[in-house]
Amino acid sequence: MPRSLREALAGRVPEPLLRRLRAFDIVGDIAVLRLPPELRPYACAIGEALMRVHRHVRVVLNQVGPVSGDFRTRQLEHIAGEHRTLTLHRENGCVFRVDLSRVYFSPRLGTERLRVARLVRPGEVVTNLFAGVGCYSIEIARHSQARRVYSIDLNPAAYELMVENIRLNRVGDRVIPLLGDCRALVRTRLRGLADRVLMPLPELARDFLPTALEALKPTGGVIHFYDFGSDPDPFGPSASFVREFVSAHGFSAEILSCRKVRSYAPRCYHVVLDVRLSGLSGF
Ligand SMILES: C[S@@+](CC[C@H](N)C(=O)[O-])C[C@H]1O[C@@H](n2cnc3c(N)ncnc32)[C@H](O)[C@@H]1O
Repeated sequence: MPRSLREALAGRVPEPLLRRLRAFDIVGDIAVLRLPPELRPYACAIGEALMRVHRHVRVVLNQVGPVSGDFRTRQLEHIAGEHRTLTLHRENGCVFRVDLSRVYFSPRLGTERLRVARLVRPGEVVTNLFAGVGCYSIEIARHSQARRVYSIDLNPAAYELMVENIRLNRVGDRVIPLLGDCRALVRTRLRGLADRVLMPLPELARDFLPTALEALKPTGGVIHFYDFGSDPDPFGPSASFVREFVSAHGFSAEILSCRKVRSYAPRCYHVVLDVRLSGLSGF
């Protein structure tokens, strides 16, 4: 039995090309590769070898474009195994139904989701502005004594799966799924309710900072602000942006921590700043 994908492909794919194989993700029983163009002719052999090495994998897909659009979805092509994109993924003691062709999901955020869940104090109200299929919201409910988690997404497919995931994880007493634009939902229904706001969409976090402030209680609270950063100063521009925005509105911000969540290109990172805000009563 081959122990690695490279070993399984030895003799079937030329050695110099094998070195171009990148890390892949496994979501439930689906593997997602990102094959460079020169490996596309070997896609079938690579997919079958992957299933021999990882015996629980039943489907192999190739991501053929970037994550894009309002719903942050990706274009996938089938390479090997069963023809489906729906699976059940286990993470941090929870289970998540995910349809990779219709919603955003990354197993690489598991550590970050658990980190945030462990910061939540008993009795807190949390608003998650970009909830996807509900992973952060459900893990918070399972790993903390949060009083309530408002969990918003714009994508109807993500909302449907979130509703199912709330049921599967038995957190329906505390996680409230909401379908729609978080800007409108905060303004009309969730204004001033939250002790903590999650903004797990780095592409839009800066545009939605006013919405996050609006969602917080007048006494203030904590925002998890996701952004992009690069060396040599991965956190400085994000911190300056938050400080300047907040002080222009007469509030104060204390940066509690800065972390690299993952790298997406050499020396470029998806970062998170945990920020405590106070003096919000006029917002
Ligand atoms: C990067 S994904 C979130 C992933 C999720 N937090 C997780 O851990 O799997 C961003 C999500 O934001 C949603 N979204 C984009 N614009 C939105 C908006 N204006 N209001 C609410 N949700 C939005 C997308 O549909 C997408 O599911």
